[in-house]
Amino acid sequence: MKLSEVIPWGRSFAEYTEMFSLSENDLNKTLLGCGDGPACFNADLSKNGGSIISIDPLYQFNAEQIATRIDEVYPQVMEQVSRNENDFIWTTIKSVEALGQIRMEAMKRFLTDYETGKKSGRYIQASLPTLPFEKNAFELALCSHYLFLYSDHISQEQHILSLKELCRIAHEVRVYPLVSLEGKKSPHLKAVTSALKDNHVQVSYESVQYQFQKGATEMLVIKCT
Ligand SMILES: C[S@@+](CC[C@H](N)C(=O)[O-])C[C@H]1O[C@@H](n2cnc3c(N)ncnc32)[C@H](O)[C@@H]1O
Repeated sequence: MKLSEVIPWGRSFAEYTEMFSLSENDLNKTLLGCGDGPACFNADLSKNGGSIISIDPLYQFNAEQIATRIDEVYPQVMEQVSRNENDFIWTTIKSVEALGQIRMEAMKRFLTDYETGKKSGRYIQASLPTLPFEKNAFELALCSHYLFLYSDHISQEQHILSLKELCRIAHEVRVYPLVSLEGKKSPHLKAVTSALKDNHVQVSYESVQYQFQKGATEMLVIKCT
């Protein structure tokens, strides 16, 4: 991964809890955040005593490098969101400017926590479809805005291998969203869910309260054991 190709963009704790319908009980589980990037879910949960490890190839870079890249791409991302404003629902987040503030605040919280968290093993550089953890290491794995969203870039086979890997290391896996960048149901979804069912795991779609990208109303829930 080259830093010049990375577009860091991270969501807030509140967004994570809504995207994955996380209950108090869920927040007390041993959690894996897969592809967490510069989101502040790990920082905020850890501060409140939760148990979470985040993995991302982005974590090969240090805080200063990630901070510089965030500042570089911010105007680009904001311009892109403004251009595609009609693809989003502006009820909870009221405007493009408010979105920018929420995301920058989340990324600042991540950056403040990052170096300490990395030293204590809460941020680990790793990439799907192979993760450096033992079987059943986590009670719950969460994957936000990576699988299915980038359906044009990640093949069906990579999706299947990635989800099988997450099922190896976690008892339960939740993935959100299930639409691609264009807001259409991912073309991989059907084949991926049947491959998982053949692997004897329980797969379901559950509606979530979180709504921002139009069409992104559900998460995939996989009960692996
Ligand atoms: C759009 S960001 C989402 C960040 C965060 N999950 C959120 O929702 O705010 C996608 C993330 O996936 C990460 N990523 C890219 N390739 C990956 C891989 N092979 N395995 C895991 N994560 C990957 C990127 O580095 C990036 O941080």
